[in-house]
Amino acid sequence: MTAPLGVGLLGLGTVGSAVARAMGDRPRRLEHMAGRPLRLAGAAVRDGAKARDAGGVSVTTDPFDLLDDPEVDVIVEVIGGTDPAFDLHLAAFERGKHVVTANKELVARRWNELHEAARLAKRELRFEASVAAAVPVVAAARMLAASRPRVVRGLLNGTTTYICAQLDARRAFDEALADAQRLGYAEADPSADVDGLDPAYKLSILVSLLEGRHFHPDDVRRTSLRGVTAADVDEARTRGAALRYLATADFGEKATKARVAPEEVPLGSLEGEATGPQNVVRIETDLAGTLVFSGPGAGGDATASAILGDVIAIARATR
Ligand SMILES: NC(=O)c1ccc[n+]([C@@H]2O[C@H](COP(=O)([O-])OP(=O)(O)OC[C@H]3O[C@@H](n4cnc5c(N)ncnc54)[C@H](OP(=O)(O)O)[C@@H]3O)[C@@H](O)[C@H]2O)c1
Repeated sequence: MTAPLGVGLLGLGTVGSAVARAMGDRPRRLEHMAGRPLRLAGAAVRDGAKARDAGGVSVTTDPFDLLDDPEVDVIVEVIGGTDPAFDLHLAAFERGKHVVTANKELVARRWNELHEAARLAKRELRFEASVAAAVPVVAAARMLAASRPRVVRGLLNGTTTYICAQLDARRAFDEALADAQRLGYAEADPSADVDGLDPAYKLSILVSLLEGRHFHPDDVRRTSLRGVTAADVDEARTRGAALRYLATADFGEKATKARVAPEEVPLGSLEGEATGPQNVVRIETDLAGTLVFSGPGAGGDATASAILGDVIAIARATR
């Protein structure tokens, strides 16, 4: 039998726990698809005493217990943010591990350094889960390498889609935001959602893939969703439109312009009908025409699906 592929989780929150549960509940399917067993070595967390629904995986508060474990081949980083995640990615490559992550902020901000570290280590950096969770748009963008991109446009943030749908139902912005927080859609500090940082990171990753070079998230012009009123929603409706928080990249002849802003979409379109975590991504290119992707863009299981797809791809490539 081929040797198992060892996996070490950094982070055991919403996403990490879902990865651990999925690895625990379908080992045979994963082995079949990977061509060898996947073995979860453990998970690094901040609080070692916290109760978790993570299939009984062993936890440590020292990420180096996993980084220095010779039986760990792949590090799955689902801590989030840039610090300490960036140093942990570099430490993983230095130790000859592959890295899989859902961390859009880190990939968007430190694109060049991470790709260079992976290249020097001759290891893989994979981040399908960082954009639109279960919807395989990172793979799609890679497969469009021969096509010239024209436009990327879509809904890349579930919290703001939820808020827009609530505004459609004549709720006030603050009430809708409070609901999103209560339902666990929005962060306690919702700025990354409603001020556009989160969709800007995801758009930056898609543009970087489609252009084959880093497009920095600071170059995405952001207009906050705060300040959208019932009157704006009513006015859009008179034009047969709804307001949604759209991420758009226009690939011009000379320069690519990217923005995240409240914009009108046709009522009855996929975007106009979206009410929560489902994402919609349209990619228009010269050779491939317009491709449309839609599906769950957040949530533990949906994100775990993309992460394990990446882990399986590494297992198959390194058999
Ligand atoms: N949630 C989603 O739907 C979703 C979707 C797509 C992508 N993502 C991305 O996935 C990543 C994880 O998100 P999440 O929602 O799972 O976050 P989360 O629930 O806040 O979990 C973060 C985990 O990281 C651990 N952690 C924090 N600092 C650490 C440190 N210094 N060393 C070791 N562990 C540390 C935490 O430990 P404790 O548990 O002990 O506090 C926790 O287990 C983020 O990059 C996020 O953007 C999330």
